[in-house]
Amino acid sequence: MPTDAATQPSAPSSAAADPVPPMFRPFTLRGLIIPNRVVLSPMCMYSAVDGTVGDFQLVHLGSRAYGGAGLVMTEMTNVRADGRISPGCAGLWKPEHVAPWKRVVDFVRAQTASRIGIQLAHAGRKGSVPVAWDRSTRGLGAGGWEIIAPSAIRFSDDSPMPREMTIDDIAAITACFAQSARWALEAGFDLIELHMGHGYLLSSFMSPLANRRTDGYGGSIEARMRFPLEVFRAVRAVWPEERPISARISAIDWEKGGNTIEDGIAMSQMLFDAGVDIVDVSSGNVTSERRPDLPGLFQTPFSEAIRKATGKPTMTVGNIKSAEEVNAIIAEGRADLCCLARWHLYDPYFVRHAAHAQGMDPDWPKQYLNVRRMLAQA
Ligand SMILES: Cc1cc2nc3c(=O)[nH]c(=O)nc-3n(C[C@H](O)[C@H](O)[C@H](O)COP(=O)(O)O)c2cc1C
Repeated sequence: MPTDAATQPSAPSSAAADPVPPMFRPFTLRGLIIPNRVVLSPMCMYSAVDGTVGDFQLVHLGSRAYGGAGLVMTEMTNVRADGRISPGCAGLWKPEHVAPWKRVVDFVRAQTASRIGIQLAHAGRKGSVPVAWDRSTRGLGAGGWEIIAPSAIRFSDDSPMPREMTIDDIAAITACFAQSARWALEAGFDLIELHMGHGYLLSSFMSPLANRRTDGYGGSIEARMRFPLEVFRAVRAVWPEERPISARISAIDWEKGGNTIEDGIAMSQMLFDAGVDIVDVSSGNVTSERRPDLPGLFQTPFSEAIRKATGKPTMTVGNIKSAEEVNAIIAEGRADLCCLARWHLYDPYFVRHAAHAQGMDPDWPKQYLNVRRMLAQA
């Protein structure tokens, strides 16, 4: 069982006395010890074949693990073939998907100190579109599939029209998330993140802009949270007690009539009350309005607000690209973990570079130990 101490955010004051820079202090969630505070944020790579991952994901995720990220998150990995964004999206909807994922997990665990989590998702009304580099929201034509949503409302004017989900659909998708979680366990993942953000299926239930249901799964915030919480409970029931579950949310919708930070705090509290271990705080992308392109740590105030209001751990994400930012966010108690997405594409070795700059000597892979002497002379 997790102790309260393991799941409560640490006080910023205790951090000040520690000679280890904040970004290199391990973080515990249930039985999982993450060796530092930097996370490879989930990023769709659109390079799977029929949902099956391969050499690309091994090298892409493996190199960020060699690079020192404390937690490497997979891209959004879909619980059904028709729950993908595009034909190139990764999956965990059939037993054949397990071994290729296990190859990635085994590599990361055997060769590096990083821990590895999988983001489970269903794309909902944002599905059935081409891969990112061929993107239009116009759909795939004959190659597409039926998409589903809380209500028959398109993501954007030129998106495919989704079918409103029935109660049977809700039960079926919930069961798919649980089955994918069982397969994630077989593959050996340390953590599951449920994608409840960015307008994908679970997120679209949470937002009043996408959810107009009147059947107990829409309306009040409690009703809009019902399906995401059912999915969480189904996954929690099959996921081992000592392994944590996180939830990525869009804390605010950035749009009139949508969720505000007060809603973001209320949704997070419901997730924590149900047993979610950490909320990964993103925002927007719920409608085609997406979100404003703001500079700086524009989403960290949402993480900070949720962490302070609930007293529970959060991850922050958005425009983080320096060790100084990570150290300040952790030291000031604005989040417990910092997710870097695009900066990790630029610098897979971000954490090792930051460690050297701060006089830390991280565990080097045995194959790379000779670099130590060179660094000492640098
Ligand atoms: C290429 C790309 C793919 C992404 N795919 C996902 C995804 O699969 N799941 C997710 O939650 N967020 C996804 N995101 C959002 C990132 O995880 C992150 O929240 C966002 O890029 C902001 O962080 P950054 O400023 O460090 O890039 C993606 C972002 C990029 C750039």
